Amino acid sequence: MRLSRYAVIFAVVAGSTLSAGSILAADGVIAKRQADMKAMGKEMSGIKDTLAAKGDLAKVQAHAETIRKIMVEVPALFPAGSDAGPTDALPAIWTDQAGFDSAVKRADGLADALATAAGSGETAAATAAFAALGKNGCGGCHQTYRKPQG
Ligand code: HEC
Repeated sequence: MRLSRYAVIFAVVAGSTLSAGSILAADGVIAKRQADMKAMGKEMSGIKDTLAAKGDLAKVQAHAETIRKIMVEVPALFPAGSDAGPTDALPAIWTDQAGFDSAVKRADGLADALATAAGSGETAAATAAFAALGKNGCGGCHQTYRKPQG
């Protein structure tokens, strides 16, 4: 009897420690994915500026490849339980995981197309591919899976 009472107390204490731990872990992963998203935003600005200045398309290609490197990390940055906290992520990410994963794949494909267009040295093609990435890649996912930005 005595033992089992201790066991219950232990379980309660351990349980609350665990949930505090996972809240901390969620805050960490939220901060990490927001930082990674911001980093992709910076790459996009770099591309925009380079295209506007009719600059070196090799730079555009390098930015697009950096975006792809970050993009492959995206699915892992939205683990179950990271919907609570200081986040703009919408619950649809976890209720429609297949849709979220395909939004990642679509954005990655569009970043790949931009890298290829920039590699071909065609400014017009690179500009069109950049617009498609922004609208359908980044924007396509944000529209469905991120809280509207006011
Ligand atoms: C598959 C979905 C998806 C794709 C693709 C995606 N994002 Fe995001 N993005 C999100 C979600 C969800 C958030 C909200 C994250 C949070 O607050 O936890 C976000 C947040 C952001 C933020 C705000 C970060 C902050 O400081 O809070 C920026 C900037 C951003 N994304 C830029 C981009 C750019 C640029 C691209 C394309 C190169 C992109 N995103 C592609 C889902 C996506």
